[in-house]
Amino acid sequence: MKKLNGKIKIKTAIFISGRGSNLKNLLKFSKKKISPISIDLIISDNKYATGLKFSEKFNINKKIFNFNNTKIDSLLLEFIRKKDIKFICLAGFMRILSKKFLKNFNGKIINIHPSLLPKYKGLNTHKKVIQNKDKFSGCSVHYVNTKLDSGKIILKKKVKVYKKDTIRSLSNRVLRAEHKLYPMAILKIFN
Ligand code: GRF
Repeated sequence: MKKLNGKIKIKTAIFISGRGSNLKNLLKFSKKKISPISIDLIISDNKYATGLKFSEKFNINKKIFNFNNTKIDSLLLEFIRKKDIKFICLAGFMRILSKKFLKNFNGKIINIHPSLLPKYKGLNTHKKVIQNKDKFSGCSVHYVNTKLDSGKIILKKKVKVYKKDTIRSLSNRVLRAEHKLYPMAILKIFN
């Protein structure tokens, strides 16, 4: 816990692997008075992740970990505990966290996924939606458990799929919905 503008905030880490648009969106949200979280740490498995630039822009600590290291669980746990992190948001993080890690953060890790779960777990969701001629797609925020994209759903948001949609146009529309949904899900958890 940390006091920010007179309000107690939950110390949070965001895990990323790439672009970081959800990270940027959550950083902006965390600055608002209504936000129950403060973002104190950015973790990446990829030193080339473009989202890491938000560390400087928002003056937030970042740390890059080699997830192929056999001791990654202990290293990550130790680091996160030292930083007093109490909550974790995965945002485009492309690794599966180990059972050991999840057990230590049970119920305190959430993820955003670009489909209406339980439909289309894993990769290439927009391609699958278009191939199957679905009329709707969307995004989901869920708790993270040991199975891929399978934890309890916190909130979902639907978007329409148009006949002329390409993977790019659909993923842009879903991403805009993600940027609304992730803060809403965090508010739902803590309010
Ligand atoms: C988002 O579509 C998210 O749902 C998925 O990966 C993408 C990450 O985008 N898990 P960004 O890095 O937040 O821009």
